[in-house]
Amino acid sequence: MTTTTETYGVDPTPTPLALLLLGREADPNSERGVECPGDLPAASDPDLVERARAAKAALGDRVFILGHHYQRDEVIEFADVTGDSFKLARDAAARPEAEYIVFCGVHFMAESADILTGPAQQVILPDLAAGCSMADMATAEQVAECWDVLTDAGIADVTVPVSYMNSSADIKAFTGKHGGTICTSSNAERALEWAFEQGQKVLFLPDQHLGRNTAVREMGLSLDDCVLYNPHKPNGGLTEQQLRDAKMILWRGHCSVHGRFSLDSVNDVRARIPGVTVLVHPECKHEVVSAADMVGSTEYIIKALDAAEPGSKWAIGTELNLVRRLAKAHPDKEVVFLDRAVCFCSTMNRIDLPHLVWALESLVEGRVPNVITVDPETEKYAKAALDRMLALP
Ligand code: 13P
Ligand code: SF4
Repeated sequence: MTTTTETYGVDPTPTPLALLLLGREADPNSERGVECPGDLPAASDPDLVERARAAKAALGDRVFILGHHYQRDEVIEFADVTGDSFKLARDAAARPEAEYIVFCGVHFMAESADILTGPAQQVILPDLAAGCSMADMATAEQVAECWDVLTDAGIADVTVPVSYMNSSADIKAFTGKHGGTICTSSNAERALEWAFEQGQKVLFLPDQHLGRNTAVREMGLSLDDCVLYNPHKPNGGLTEQQLRDAKMILWRGHCSVHGRFSLDSVNDVRARIPGVTVLVHPECKHEVVSAADMVGSTEYIIKALDAAEPGSKWAIGTELNLVRRLAKAHPDKEVVFLDRAVCFCSTMNRIDLPHLVWALESLVEGRVPNVITVDPETEKYAKAALDRMLALP
């Protein structure tokens, strides 16, 4: 494998799905679902905060509101708990008395919560258009085709799939069916260690960057041990020999937010703020992660800032809502966003106060809107993969 930008950078030719206007389209193949039904309150309604408070109070313990770290402030204000996608799924599972789990995050997170919660609980996504472009980059059909390619190359039986939490329930089910595990950005190293004990190769889905960064930084593999499988090319754009030689087969997916941080952003911030510590999420490109001082999941980033010395200077490479809140929470430290050209996650931002009010008021009126359900067959195998992750040492 060569170490060019095309190989481990963000694709110069984005996939058609990545080009869809995020949040408005109703693509049947999309992880993000279909358009939100019903009339929303106007964003300008001065009573929105009061309406949200009243609806939440009326529902009491029947509702439990989860807020991902990348959600807007106006939504986080009403969250009963905040966290990364893994923590939130576990928090939902630990609340069996709540009839309704309102998930302020994106579609794959609500699916995982549905898999991990009881049958009497309903998981609600306030806007069905809140999907994840990375999760959309691996469809069930594409992954099944990839497995056929690995089978033809004679390596499927020594390959273990490891799928990032940021994937659809279908992909998690594929992973469970083929003896693999799910991982998050905080346990990817343990997941890869486990996978290499089970087989000789890993098929890592759908985030090439988390897969590459973990393999090279944490597992001691080289960039040449990794190949990039492009689902839009015949045989993934790889020869059988390349597949047989590889240890990590990385799916050509990426996060459209973290993938935009560049080496220039790191160099610029170091020139601008002498003594700055650069802390980035492992969904960033390998060259960005290699140039950073620290790398970790959203929970890791939050803890690092909590433990930081007053007066210390930080440039953070993750989603803007979280970085803004961190800057506000640490007035004694200098906390800046790594790159001014990168912005919010547009699909996370779909969940706003009008959607939350609409969802809560619907529940008060006895209507259960936007329920996310995973079918029993998919759930069975996806849960097997999630349970393997939960059992990782
Ligand atoms: P975590 O929530 O696991 O940190 O992942 C980051 C992310 O991009 C979520 O969509
Ligand atoms: Fe998906 Fe990236 Fe947005 Fe997370 S930040 S929901 S991975 S597009």
